[in-house]
Amino acid sequence: MSFQLVLFGGTGDLAWRKILPALFQAYRHNSLPRGGQIIGVSRDSLSDDQFRQLIGERMQHIEGEKRPQAEEFSEFAKLLHYQACDLSNTGDYVALKNRLDKHSCDVRVMYLATAPQLFTTICENLATQSLNTANTRIVLEKPLGQDLQSNQEINSIVKKFFSEKQIFRIDHYLGKPSVQNLFALRFGNSLFEPIWRRETVSSIQITLAEEIGIASRGPFYERTGALKDMIQNHALQLLCAIAMEPPINTHADAIRDEKLKVLRSLKPWTVKSLKSDIVRGQYSNGVVQGHSAVGYTQEEGVRADSTTETFVALKTEVSNWRWAGVPFFIRTGKRLARQDARIVINFRPTPHPIFQTPLSSANRLTIHLQPLDGMALHLFAQGPAQISSALKATHHSPKTPLGPLLSPVELNLDFEQRFGSDRVGAYERLLLDALAGRLNLFVRSDEQEAAWSWVEPIIEDWRKTDTPLHTYPSGSWGPIQSKEMIEHAGHHWDDATKK
Ligand code: BG6
Repeated sequence: MSFQLVLFGGTGDLAWRKILPALFQAYRHNSLPRGGQIIGVSRDSLSDDQFRQLIGERMQHIEGEKRPQAEEFSEFAKLLHYQACDLSNTGDYVALKNRLDKHSCDVRVMYLATAPQLFTTICENLATQSLNTANTRIVLEKPLGQDLQSNQEINSIVKKFFSEKQIFRIDHYLGKPSVQNLFALRFGNSLFEPIWRRETVSSIQITLAEEIGIASRGPFYERTGALKDMIQNHALQLLCAIAMEPPINTHADAIRDEKLKVLRSLKPWTVKSLKSDIVRGQYSNGVVQGHSAVGYTQEEGVRADSTTETFVALKTEVSNWRWAGVPFFIRTGKRLARQDARIVINFRPTPHPIFQTPLSSANRLTIHLQPLDGMALHLFAQGPAQISSALKATHHSPKTPLGPLLSPVELNLDFEQRFGSDRVGAYERLLLDALAGRLNLFVRSDEQEAAWSWVEPIIEDWRKTDTPLHTYPSGSWGPIQSKEMIEHAGHHWDDATKK
């Protein structure tokens, strides 16, 4: 299959940090169809060779085994081409079309890694040049809009020129191997399904903690903030993967129909819950992993009086028969103590305790997303020391129940150890899916709209009222109010990530 992948925003951060390295890995893994062209598009005036050199230099910053060797890169670089284009200038699209038409291909993928404000202009211009043919797919990077209305506007314009099955809305969390394994765990095994419900689960936690700050993305982050950057998309997609019903098959729409039902079942916000169940925060200066870090308002491109949140913790519920009454806690933030993305399923304590096991330490399943990639089932067991002390106690007083104390133990599965470290990364997987036309791991417009509808009252509330913005020192686990919020609901953050 020959392809053309047109990368709008071809010299931007996302292109050289994520997309081109992922394409390189696919090339290295021999999974990128041969005979393809990758055409970087941006405003800069560069020749093909200059573009290759620029990308080659930037890719030298990749750490570890993923960094290309010089020889490998020069082979890969033969796929790279470049077309200068001012994306708001209609004339430039004529040149782009002429360039693309010189090479015949089976599939053309237009990857829009630009600011979302440009999405509609790009689509209109592509259509004017008849570049929206049936074999064309369009990949849209997040954030798709700033709120429900702008999201609907973008979707309605894109849909004027491309059918839904040509539109690939990317949420790279869905491409992560750990998320594939969550689907495999739930729908490839019958073990967990009977206990995956309100009768046995007491609470669910999703933590997406980042050690990094906003780096050089100040202006972007100022208009985005943690709610739109992480919760509206990544965290809600993870919540869907946990809470959805088993799809009837693995077709894209079967999966997306089930995710949509979850998003539509999210408990609506009330005036009260907007106050009691959400905490927003912003990092101040501090020390992260031994390095001092400046506060958010001292970052480049950030207003000194900025009220943009870099941390959000919230409690919600999926109001349906499976999950009614089970709290879902979500937490994300930048400049937290360490990078740790995990989902914790807490199971209820035994109904009738015969061991003196503290009730608070319920069984749980931890799904590690990163930096660990694996899962751990936390159980109770009786170690030899406890057995002998229990026997002694029984000896002295025969009425003492056997096994006064249990110890926590773990069944641990590390996917990196099991499957090796050279696994297909999120962007690589999603790019190959887009080339192959597989939509399973992409987000449908109605899902996105349901997610925006749910976060919209929060955005409105923060816009209108003076909801407190709590500061937290860089290197901590967020504002203390996040701990208070979960404890008020009778739960606590997973031991490994609290304080
Ligand atoms: C992006 C956000 O979508 O996801 C970033 O814009 C965030 O702010 C990133 O850092 C996190 O992705 P990952 O894969 O590093 O967890």
